[in-house]
Amino acid sequence: MQSPHVETEHYAKCIEISQKVRWDIDKDVIRGREFDFSQKFLPNGLSRIDQLDFLKTDEQRFLSQIQGRTYANMFGFVERFIVAKILEISRNHWLGDQIALEALIRFCDEEMKHQELFRRIEKMIERGMPPGYSFRWDPNEVAAAVLSKSTWAVLGLIYQIELFTQTHYKESIELDDNLSGLYKDLFLFHWKEEVTHAMMDELEWPIEDQKLTPEEREQAVTDLIELVYDVDGILQAQAAADVEYLSRNCERSFREEEKKKILTGVLEAYRWQYIFTGTTHHRFTELLSNLTTEGQRQRISSALAKIG
Ligand SMILES: [Fe+2]
Ligand SMILES: [Fe+2]
Repeated sequence: MQSPHVETEHYAKCIEISQKVRWDIDKDVIRGREFDFSQKFLPNGLSRIDQLDFLKTDEQRFLSQIQGRTYANMFGFVERFIVAKILEISRNHWLGDQIALEALIRFCDEEMKHQELFRRIEKMIERGMPPGYSFRWDPNEVAAAVLSKSTWAVLGLIYQIELFTQTHYKESIELDDNLSGLYKDLFLFHWKEEVTHAMMDELEWPIEDQKLTPEEREQAVTDLIELVYDVDGILQAQAAADVEYLSRNCERSFREEEKKKILTGVLEAYRWQYIFTGTTHHRFTELLSNLTTEGQRQRISSALAKIG
């Protein structure tokens, strides 16, 4: 356990980075631009469209744009429960470390702006794509369900989301030169403000952990597993909706087995994007192993193995 002084320095670093990278939606990110629909949105490393080699180039590109639209919408909606939970745990610092409190307030402020950004983006993408796309999740309803679980579990879920945000940008999006420039920039700017979020999750999750009895932690692990299954339920339904939208808007009609292959490929890509890049991230596994017993980690890994 670090001394409170060392932790204050970490929070102070988060404030410093947050001040330095802060951006404006119009002035820095959008800059009067539109999406370039002759380019892909999500890179192949995330969309895995290159594995669906029976799709023509323009069909693959369209599928990467559908996945990219879903990707932006997913962030907009997970950020609803992230803000609510971070506001709630900021209470730990209200009458204590004011540097920590400021860092967490900035975290929430940034996520509020990100939600606004992703709402704007959805409207812009909608104008450039055929009607009928569906992202039916109500951010408030999903947030209420997530927030009914233990804070320990929700912080675990949030931590892995904020780690994968960074991995996706640094290991895939940044490296691909064939993406719409605006789409790529969205996630460049998003990444800049996400770096400190994972740093703060890393400080907050152990604080929450110390409040729990062994029995409560056992339950929290169950809650985390249930949350991951809930995420997977959303991914299954969204993958089906996205593949349906793709097949309705391609010039040719796909055979049943081709449609099945596309659905399997998209679901695998979504599970990779939203579950496994986070849960296999070395920082996630390291912190999780500090907070859990061997038996609890085995429960988590066998639950993940059932997902695929
Ligand atoms: Fe964000
Ligand atoms: Fe974040």
